[in-house]
Amino acid sequence: MILPQGAESIRKAAALLREGKLVAFPSETVYGLGGDATNDQAVAAIFAAKDRPRFNPLIIHVLDIEKAGAYADLTPEAYQLARHFWPGPLTLILKRKDSSPISRLASAGLDTIALRAPAHPVARALLEESALPLAGPSANPSGRISPTLASHVEEAFPHLAILEGGATSIGLESSVVYLSDRGASLLRVGPILAEDLAPYVHLIPMEAKEIRSPGQTLRHYAPSKPLRMNVSDLRPEETLLAFGPGPFPGPVAYNLSPSGDLTEAASRLFAMLHELDHRAEVRAIAVMSIPEVGLGLAINDRLRRGAA
Ligand code: TXA
Ligand code: MG
Repeated sequence: MILPQGAESIRKAAALLREGKLVAFPSETVYGLGGDATNDQAVAAIFAAKDRPRFNPLIIHVLDIEKAGAYADLTPEAYQLARHFWPGPLTLILKRKDSSPISRLASAGLDTIALRAPAHPVARALLEESALPLAGPSANPSGRISPTLASHVEEAFPHLAILEGGATSIGLESSVVYLSDRGASLLRVGPILAEDLAPYVHLIPMEAKEIRSPGQTLRHYAPSKPLRMNVSDLRPEETLLAFGPGPFPGPVAYNLSPSGDLTEAASRLFAMLHELDHRAEVRAIAVMSIPEVGLGLAINDRLRRGAA
C-alpha cells in the first residue's frame, strides 16, 4: 500500500515502526526497507522479507552525526566526512560502540556498524517523527534491482506500507566507506567518488583479507534476464539499452541519456532495467559501454554485478 506524501502518512509510518513493523521509505539514492534498528524482531523481519543472507549487515539511517555518536565511536575523519557529505549518499563504516542499542543482527555480528544520514525530506521526516534509528537496506528482494520508484517496491512487496517520495534523484546506492586507524577505504563505489573523499581522508586500498562489505561479494542488482555490457554489436535476441547520441549498434527504444550525461544515466538505470525486465518481448538486455569516469564508475559496477 503506497501512502501519499504528507504529515499524516509520516505519522502512520512512524507508528508502524514503533510497533516493530516495516515501512519502505524513499531516499535520494534508492528506496529503503525500514525497521526499528534497535528491535531484533523488526530487523529479523527485514532479512526475512528480502530473503537476505544473515551475514550481510544492514545500513542504519540516522538524522545526523550527533545521533550517530550513540551507536558508533566517531573519529575525527568521521566528523570531517559527515560535515561535508551528510546528509547525503555516503555510508560510513565505524567501530560499533559497546553501549550501542542497535540490534547485533543488523550488523551481522560484526564489531562495525554502517551509518548514513539520508537527505530526502520524507526519510528525514520519518527519522524525526519516529525518533528511531532505522535499519534500511534497499527495498528489493536480495540480489535484484534496487527500487527507484514506490511502484517498484510495491511490485515486490504488495502488502508493505510504502511512503511515496517520487523518483529518487540519484538512483544509485550510497558510496560505502570503511574508516579505520590507517585511513579510509571505499567498499562500494557510488555517487561520492574517491576523488571527492581525497581532500578529507587518507584513502587506502582494501586488502582482500581485511574486512570487506559482505554484500559486495554477491551477484547483485540483477534483472531476471541475461545482461551483457559494453556491447558494440547487437545479437538477434537482444534489446539495446543505449547511452549517448550514437552511433548505435541497433534500434534504440531505451536510452539512458541521449546527451551522454552520466548523472541522468545513473538516475534512470534501475527504472529502465526494471522496465526491460518486465516487458515480455524482451529476452536479453545489451548495454552500450558507459565511460569509466565519475558516476560511470558506479553505473558500471552495478552493471557488472547484474551481468555476473
Ligand atoms: O543508498 C543506500 O545505501 C541504500 C539506501 C536505502 O540507504 N541502502 C542500501 O543498503 O543500499 P544495502 O543493504 O542494500 O547495502 C548495504 C551495503 C551492503 O553491501 C553491506 O554488505 C554493506 O553495506 N555493509 C553494511 N554494514 C556493513 C559493515 N558493518 N561492514 C561492511 N559493510 C557493511
Ligand atoms: Mg541492496
